[in-house]
Amino acid sequence: MNMRFAPARGLSGELRAPADKSISHRAALLGAMASEPVRIERYLRAADTLSTLAAVRALGALVEQHGEHVLVRGAGLRGASEPGEPIDVGNAGTLLRLLPGWLAAQEGCTFTLDGDESIRRRPVDRIAEPLRRMGAELHARDGRFPPLRIDGARLRAISYELEVASAQVKSCILLAGLTADGATTVGEPARSRDHTERLLLRAGVAIHRNGLRVTVASADELLLDRVTVPGDASSAAFLVAAGVLVPGSRLVIRDVGVNWTRTGFLRIVRRMRGIVLGDLEAELGELEADEPVSDLDVAHGALEGTTVGAEEVPLAIDELPLVALLGCFAEGETVVRGAQELRVKESDRIAGVVEGLRGLGADIEAAPDGFAVRGGGGLRGGVIDARGDHRLAMMGAVAGLASREGVEVLGMDAAAVSYPAFVEDLTRLGGSHDERSWS
Ligand code: S3P
Repeated sequence: MNMRFAPARGLSGELRAPADKSISHRAALLGAMASEPVRIERYLRAADTLSTLAAVRALGALVEQHGEHVLVRGAGLRGASEPGEPIDVGNAGTLLRLLPGWLAAQEGCTFTLDGDESIRRRPVDRIAEPLRRMGAELHARDGRFPPLRIDGARLRAISYELEVASAQVKSCILLAGLTADGATTVGEPARSRDHTERLLLRAGVAIHRNGLRVTVASADELLLDRVTVPGDASSAAFLVAAGVLVPGSRLVIRDVGVNWTRTGFLRIVRRMRGIVLGDLEAELGELEADEPVSDLDVAHGALEGTTVGAEEVPLAIDELPLVALLGCFAEGETVVRGAQELRVKESDRIAGVVEGLRGLGADIEAAPDGFAVRGGGGLRGGVIDARGDHRLAMMGAVAGLASREGVEVLGMDAAAVSYPAFVEDLTRLGGSHDERSWS
């Protein structure tokens, strides 16, 4: 579905961010691995996280959905059953990379994971290699892509250094480590989101972090009881960007997860002199079990360019398209480097952002690992293709509200992957759009 977003005059109001996608995936997976029922409050009902519920059901967990909460009665750490047909992960990269950590431990069982056209371009060699070292057998198409077949085995503990910081790969190894024959350690070149670690700590697992290395002990069972999912900082980021960009705006976004490993974008916005008030978590020395939450107060600000380097990239990975968008409106240059991972997200996000924003009037150049924007001129507007990528669709919509002539987004329905109510929420805040499903 195509939609045109008209220039907005000032957004105002208050709303609750949708539930966190990363934490919803993890809560459902750990629920499926747990021995006692887990009640998940505010589970995200979006395409990606519904794929996770369907997957754990296919593997033998029982899932009941009651309004905003979900009850998962798990199959246990070693109790997944073979579904007899491929597991469809849909568009969900997180499910594709995390689930094999559990499946690899199911001795004597074989599973196949497959998904949509975009999933078939997402690399899985990065999880296949450590899981093979742990003793499982994995076969990927062309050695790298889904469909991915996993033959479960008795797992060995390993110590593994990631070349690229990735919460998905780290989480996969930690989940496999739960059933290994000793303590498993994962090291990263930079900090990435730590929701898996926090949930495992909550579930009674012996896990600790030492700088950039996390070590998990094997566990007999997971005991989680209840998980409350905070608002998604990455979804809220689109509203934050809209509030910061549209003159006269003043928004309050309620209940946003402000875990330090997820708030890189908010720190970048503040550095660019955008106005975002909130009680953001400080960087912690020790691993913490809880997920902190805050309301965010957002207002328009005159922006300045900034540089985002490799250390900061994993802390703002899904919001980097928005850094480019803000850069179009900021004085001076905005540069993102060390973000080659963007090339293997739901789409090649460097190409999608650079070609998309250039089509709307931006002065932006691509690099192999990022982009540079010469800002200050704002955006004229025009047409942008979401390329089937939810985050590009939502970036296009926000660009429309901040542009001079409006933006038509081709494939706006992609937003349903993480934020089904996005257009409704923008409209409530004062953004206007019209549907062009016929064009
Ligand atoms: C995610 C981690 C990130 C992020 C993705 C969700 C997660 O991927 O881009 O949207 O939930 O672990 P990588 O850590 O693999 O870069």
